[in-house]
Amino acid sequence: MHLIAPSLLSADFLNLEKDIEMVNRSQADWFHLDVMDGVFVPNISFGLPVVEKIKQAALKPLDVHLMIVDPDRYIERFRKAGADIISVHAEACTHLHRSVFLIKNTGAKAGIVLNPHSPVCLLTEIIADADMVLLMSVNPGFGGQKFIENTYRKVRELKELILKKNSASLIEIDGGVDLANAPLLVREGADILVTGNTVFASSNPEETIRQLKNF
Ligand code: DX5
Ligand code: ZN
Repeated sequence: MHLIAPSLLSADFLNLEKDIEMVNRSQADWFHLDVMDGVFVPNISFGLPVVEKIKQAALKPLDVHLMIVDPDRYIERFRKAGADIISVHAEACTHLHRSVFLIKNTGAKAGIVLNPHSPVCLLTEIIADADMVLLMSVNPGFGGQKFIENTYRKVRELKELILKKNSASLIEIDGGVDLANAPLLVREGADILVTGNTVFASSNPEETIRQLKNF
């Protein structure tokens, strides 16, 4: 069964606790937290103190997506703030193998993120060590963007690589996921679906999560 990870980037920041409680009550599996530094991506979101507060209210694992340059500097602190899964961009890590083991050594699960333009073959030598690969299906930086169709083929290719290398890595998809493309992504091999706008712009977010979970 696939997992659903609502992205709090699209939540109501003035009433964050209310939205966290909705996710707690819902059939969602994880909280997806988008950390942006205004350098790696053209937007700034939130950082350590906010993650720490979310941890106090969240009853489900925190899936922290770091869109920051040189993330090695902050991995330990995000773990201390409550991250259960920490994902770093391949494009932001000069020594990706080192970053993956920095994450694992904190006790967190290690995810590797690929931007839409980055080929799956970049992961050939590291896939066996990854707990998760996050494929971006939009250019990172903002919620509510249009899904890039090429992602289906990429999921298939990644699934093949995972099987070929005997990796236990999960596949997560992030950006523009909705009720129409979700079943197709799962059919291609996606394990976790991140959803921001589809959930939080819905008139009944809890029901939308239920629909994303059951098809
Ligand atoms: C984009 C973020 C996503 C985003 C997804 O940079 O990584 O997690 O919040 O939002 P939607 O589902 O609205 O595309
Ligand atoms: Zn994200």
